Formats: sequence, structure tokens, C-alpha cells
Amino acid sequence: MRHLTEISDFSVEEISELISVAEDMMKNPGLYIEALRGNILATLFYEPSTRTRLSFEAAMLRLGGSVIGFSDKQSSSAAKGESIQDTARIVSDYADIMAIRHYEAYAPMEAARVATIPVINAGDGGNQHPTQTLTDLLTISAEMKRLDHWTIVMVGDLKYGRTVHSLTKALKEYEGNHFIFVSPKELAMPQYLKEMLNERGISYEETQRLDEAIGKADILYMTRIQRERFEDPTEYERLKDSYILDTQKMRSAKESMIVLHPLPRVNEIAEEVDEDPRAKYFEQARYGMFIRMALILTLIRLNKGGER
Ligand code: CP
Repeated sequence: MRHLTEISDFSVEEISELISVAEDMMKNPGLYIEALRGNILATLFYEPSTRTRLSFEAAMLRLGGSVIGFSDKQSSSAAKGESIQDTARIVSDYADIMAIRHYEAYAPMEAARVATIPVINAGDGGNQHPTQTLTDLLTISAEMKRLDHWTIVMVGDLKYGRTVHSLTKALKEYEGNHFIFVSPKELAMPQYLKEMLNERGISYEETQRLDEAIGKADILYMTRIQRERFEDPTEYERLKDSYILDTQKMRSAKESMIVLHPLPRVNEIAEEVDEDPRAKYFEQARYGMFIRMALILTLIRLNKGGER
């Protein structure tokens, strides 16, 4: 049984194949409108979402399949104390594939241990968000034409930001990438990820100064300070506006740089930046639907023994 609970569940070659399928789906959507007729996607969302849930659901509908699910814990039997494993066992009988977002790290991995259909991690607490990473890789591939030899500047909440954790894991697999981590010291990139980079001999820098880092960026990856992960609300209030990207700061950036953000944004990108052609975060959200189409199709075909 193949799942996607961590980005490393798929090899670089498999990710490259997913990107190719997604690019073909963008060019020839009509070829895929019956591809998964009769199949059901279950979206089990224990935490709020706009992009991930709706792009998963749109992806399945555009493949001719159907969707069931819930969008908050209170409307499921989790509110009565059902475990994620029992929910996964039951949903395995109703659907052909499931996407799980959960407020607890590793909950989708727990579900995958007992599920008899593919499980996709749609974000687990402050841990990982592998389908956002696939979205980011498709965006970089489409907009920048390659995934290697870039300087990637990640900004904001690097401690709790699951998107940057998965993206760092993914981009370290491509030759010549260099990372600059920009955060308040309280929200630094977790040690285990920095050790992973050290073990692989991959270069990175850490700084608290966006103004000093922005000029080196090929890819500027902004993130939201994750209010929901803070135990102390006063600490969130103190840190929430640590970095605000505005047109003034954009003047120091390369003309060829792109700005990504997994969204939602709060204050960290001023709306005036949306008009800058280097701002690609809305296109990024659109790419997310196509890469999820490619992922759903691939996992269902792999697990039913069909061709990819
Ligand atoms: N990027 C992302 O995960 O957005 P949502 O929380 O809206 O799904």
C-alpha cells in the first residue's frame, strides 16, 4: 500500500513523474474527466482549511470521481472520542483514498498504519505538509524551469510552519540548493532539519534580517506566524508582525526572484505586493489543484494495480 504521509514517501523520480502528469493535466484537462469515475475521495479535516480541502475536492471532481468527508472535528465521531485509527478503518470501507488534516503531528501516519486504502497527509500539526510541498515544487518547476541550484529564502515561523519543514526536506534532494532561514530566534527552523542538512553537506544560513537576505533570494518563501500553535498568546502578539514584505523591500530583490506563500496570509505580505509580477502565490494555489489531481490518480492506480 502506497501512501503520502511524508514527502520522502515519493522518490525524486516519482515526484518528477507527478509534476509531468500535473503539467499534462493543465494542458489537456479533457483527457482526464473520466479517469476516476466510480472512485471516492474522503476528506477528513480536523483543522480549518480553504485551499487544501477545496483543491483536493475539486481535483477529485475534475477526475470524474466523487467526494465524501467532514471539515471539522465536531461534525465527526472524533467529537465523541473515536480514535484516528478507528476512523481510518471505517473510511477504508467507504472510499478509495483519503486525505487527512489533523491538529496532532503524526495523526495521518497513525491512520496509514491501519488503513486499507491510500492515506494522504493534508497537514499534521506543526509537522509536515507534503501536498503543499508538491504544490511548491510544481510552482517552482513551472515558473523557474528547474528545481536545483537555487537560493531559497524561507521567512517567518520556521518552528511551527509545517510547509517549510516539508519543503526543506524536498529541496535538499536537488543539487546545489542553498537555504537562508529568516526568523525570530524563538521561531527558528527545528534542529533535526538543520542536522539533516548538515549530514547531507547542504549549505544554509540563519538570520533574523529579511532586509539582508532578500537580495540573495531566487525563491522567497514567506510564511504566516502560526497563532494557533502558540501556548502563550502574548508571545504571538509580540512576534506576529516580525516580517512584512512590502514594495519597499521588493526593490532590493532580484528581478528574476519569485515570491511564494502557502497562504493564508495575515500581515506578512502587504497587498501592494500582489501587483508585482514576481508575486506567484495565487498561481501557486492554482497549481495545487493540478498536482493533487496527479497525486490522487497516481495513488489510486498504484494501489489498484493499474498503470500510472
Ligand atoms: N496552504 C494551505 O494549507 O492552506 P489551507 O490551510 O487553506 O488549506
